[in-house]
Amino acid sequence: EDTHKIRASLLEWYDKNQRDLPWRTSTKKSENGENVQEEEEEKRAYGVWVSEVMLQQTRVQTVIDYYNRWMLKWPTLQHLSQASLEEVNEMWAGLGYYRRARFLLEGAKMIVAEGSEFPNTVSALRKVPGIGDYTAGAIASIAFKQVVPVVDGNVVRVLARLKAISANPKDKATVKNFWKLAAQLVDPSRPGDFNQSLMELGATLCTPLNPNCTSCPVSSQCRALHNSRNDELVMVTDY
Ligand code: ADE
Repeated sequence: EDTHKIRASLLEWYDKNQRDLPWRTSTKKSENGENVQEEEEEKRAYGVWVSEVMLQQTRVQTVIDYYNRWMLKWPTLQHLSQASLEEVNEMWAGLGYYRRARFLLEGAKMIVAEGSEFPNTVSALRKVPGIGDYTAGAIASIAFKQVVPVVDGNVVRVLARLKAISANPKDKATVKNFWKLAAQLVDPSRPGDFNQSLMELGATLCTPLNPNCTSCPVSSQCRALHNSRNDELVMVTDY
């Protein structure tokens, strides 16, 4: 039915069209057993954390250089935990919202102080300074394959169109509703890729203005398009 079709179409589209980004390292299963895989997951979690925090107020194209420089200087959580606030701020120069950099440093110090095991559930991640629902969902699903949703402005717009929802996105109840919807939709076998496919679709095709519906993998499931309202529901971009 609809949900299965939407999942399959989005994942197939994402596999073909995802942008090649430095934090999107392979999530293929390692052949060398559990420990290696766990280590890989933790390494990936650190990269996803840094990239998602950078991406919160900054465009992908700008983030790429900052991300690569950051990972060269502090390749692991342990490296970052040894950094000073001055170094971190210097690295962040130009990205703005310096609080985000301070939270990354504080978070790294906290995780290392508590034994260096990267939190791998949404509730554990939420306890880290600066990690909110969005970042927790992104890390849990992308790095640890937890079947949890991620909702940002792009996802709200995509879902609003897909389901023809025109509620006020500034309303707390509306936002909660989109999280619920995203939780029902997330693909249980590839949650991280599925979540990123929604973000990617919103960033590249399902744009606030002039959405490219002819190239969209879920156009036949899209209620807004079906109702000729695809140009509408633009206000959800404010979320
Ligand atoms: N925007 C923020 N995080 C993203 C991600 N992981 N993939 C695509 N767009 C994003």
